Amino acid sequence: MKLFKSIPEWQAWRDTLQEGPLGFIPTMGALHQGHLSLIEASRSENTLTVVSIFINPKQFDESADFEAYPANHQQDLNRLENAGVDAVLLPDAGQIYKDDYRFKITEREFSRRLCGAHRPGHFDGVLTVVMRLLNLVRPDNAYFGEKDYQQLQLIRDMTSAFFMPVNIVACATVRETDGLAMSSRNQHLDDRQRLRAAALYASLKQGPTVDQARQRLARLGFEIDYVEDIAGRRLAAVKLGNTRLIDNVEI
Ligand code: PAJ
Repeated sequence: MKLFKSIPEWQAWRDTLQEGPLGFIPTMGALHQGHLSLIEASRSENTLTVVSIFINPKQFDESADFEAYPANHQQDLNRLENAGVDAVLLPDAGQIYKDDYRFKITEREFSRRLCGAHRPGHFDGVLTVVMRLLNLVRPDNAYFGEKDYQQLQLIRDMTSAFFMPVNIVACATVRETDGLAMSSRNQHLDDRQRLRAAALYASLKQGPTVDQARQRLARLGFEIDYVEDIAGRRLAAVKLGNTRLIDNVEI
């Protein structure tokens, strides 16, 4: 597995690659089975699979959240090597934002709703870094999880709006056995919160209406950011203590 910390070195290698589809999975590290399922999908559909690890400072609306984000590059690199990844891009913020974030992508509608309404600037940060990474990697196929459904939809819309020559592939949410969607943020839950957290998925699946799902979650002690039905899906964000959890199901 090749590891690139320098963008010019990455670009030089990228230019040597022969024909054959390239699959790309952008991540922020703290890799779990959810990320690995995206890698598996890419490996089955491409001749080369590239993963980036970059904890993007521009998508954290709270600096405490950024500072608490789990980082363990050595463990992540071992997992990627075992998963059969061909190359890893591990750039630092100075290289990704060498313009000092003078240029960014702004979406004016959907990004302001749901998670965007509670996390100002979050999706500008996500879209800007994904645009930069896609331009650097130039993949044929890029893999994103349905777990972050609003993010997936915005990335699809952005690549279409800018005529970007990439196919966006959506992958199903990977869950723990009790239904909790896998997330690096689950590490922040204490034992009691972890037990209660599974009720998020159950409530989204079972509540016949948004109001009933909301009431059920409130009764169970979740602080609710939103529960909304959009285009055949029910999406929610809740807090347990300081930990924010998101999930969505098809309805
Ligand atoms: P991160 O949270 O590391 O997630 C990387 C990718 O893994 C995203 O496409 C996400 O939807 C997917 N993923 C996370 N948990 C999943 C699960 N349980 N099942 C299936 N897929 C899952 O999302 C980001 O990073 C960042 O916003 C990024 C796109 C890298 C831009 O910085």
